[in-house]
Amino acid sequence: MSLVTFFPQILILHISTVAISGSLFAVRGGFGLAGMNGLVQHRSLRYFSYFNDSVLLAAGLSLTFIIHQYPLLNAWLTVKLALLVVYIALGVLALRPARSWRQRAIAYGCALTTYAFIISVAVTQNPWGILLLLHP
Ligand code: HEM
Repeated sequence: MSLVTFFPQILILHISTVAISGSLFAVRGGFGLAGMNGLVQHRSLRYFSYFNDSVLLAAGLSLTFIIHQYPLLNAWLTVKLALLVVYIALGVLALRPARSWRQRAIAYGCALTTYAFIISVAVTQNPWGILLLLHP
């Protein structure tokens, strides 16, 4: 039985982990900005988030093998992977208590914007994502 058979299940896994990743980050970042740092850095939340993001990436990579499109070969997937790294880096900044409130708030907003943009790239399968709407 080939991987292709499981395309719908892997896509659901990918989309579910995408939704969990965004929601978890939004909630943790919100707690952090509200001054509830104990909750943000809680070990169980942190480890669950690492686990979820690893499944997200593994499912995303499996989908690339099924549809025979790959980062560095197909622009929309290159943009997705690159922006995933940006999203993770901004997320780390936003959740780090050592940073000032202002720095964390800016990183939080930029991370959520990056996340939303990646979804638009995924749905359109175009590296410009939602920016396509600006095209005359
Ligand atoms: C935060 C990061 C990511 C987000 C928010 C995200 C979001 C999504 C969403 C919403 C879809 C469903 C699109 C649709 O069915 O219309 C999707 C599909 C997909 N994603 Fe991701 N993704 C992320 C990371 C990745 C990564 C890192 C890869 C691979 C390197 C990847 C590869 C794929 C592939 C191959 C599909 C299937 C496209 C198809 O239906 O043919 N994704 N992604």
